[in-house]
Amino acid sequence: MSRKTKKPKFPESYQGDKAEEYNQSRWMERNQKRTALLCIQYLYDEHLDNVYHHDILRDLPYLMLDLGCGTGFSSEILAENGFRVIGVDILKDMIYKAKQKKIRYEKDTHIEYVQSDINYLPFKDDSIDHIISISAYNFIIDPTTTSKEKIIRLTQTAQDLNAIIKDHGRLVLEFYPNDEQELNLFKSSFTNNGFDGFMIKQNPNQKSGQTFLLLKKIKE
Ligand SMILES: C[S@@+](CC[C@H](N)C(=O)[O-])C[C@H]1O[C@@H](n2cnc3c(N)ncnc32)[C@H](O)[C@@H]1O
Repeated sequence: MSRKTKKPKFPESYQGDKAEEYNQSRWMERNQKRTALLCIQYLYDEHLDNVYHHDILRDLPYLMLDLGCGTGFSSEILAENGFRVIGVDILKDMIYKAKQKKIRYEKDTHIEYVQSDINYLPFKDDSIDHIISISAYNFIIDPTTTSKEKIIRLTQTAQDLNAIIKDHGRLVLEFYPNDEQELNLFKSSFTNNGFDGFMIKQNPNQKSGQTFLLLKKIKE
């Protein structure tokens, strides 16, 4: 997110006129689509393959969740690359624009949009192949709450994601932790709750800023 120096705020940056501004921004579209392509690449990362022995990437088309899909830039890239996609966003202004674009441009793409909170997803256990989330997962915790409250929230959500994703399903999260402590909270919420994996950063010495977590559900 180098071009915009101002950090987006949730929900103000994504409502009303801001939702329209977001959707019209060519810079944002390029940025989200480029990151979505990188997430697809990370989904097949060979190091993730080695995280656990019996790893088999099942046959396409995978059912993919896009958490915090916004106005659909990332979901569109997933669908163009052969995935069946369910884009989830909590804000009606964002998801409404995603749905409008789908109606206008649909060329047999397989995208559904669902308005929902990442923390309370309406999906059955073992129903999703893989999950990605781009520039959204950091919003699931309220920065003003205590570490304890953040841990409870992150743990609950990681456990819920673990339940809905199929065995050996992968989860690629791109997000923006505020500092090292927050980064560790995010990481451990997954590794303590049935996922294994690792982190990628453009600059490994930088503890905040753009972070990718590459995770895989491990069989209990
Ligand atoms: C940077 S934007 C969207 C990025 C999206 N990947 C794209 O391609 O446009 C982040 C989105 O996360 C959504 N969001 C924030 N908290 C959320 C939550 N708890 N559940 C679902 N969506 C959430 C916001 O509404 C916003 O649309």
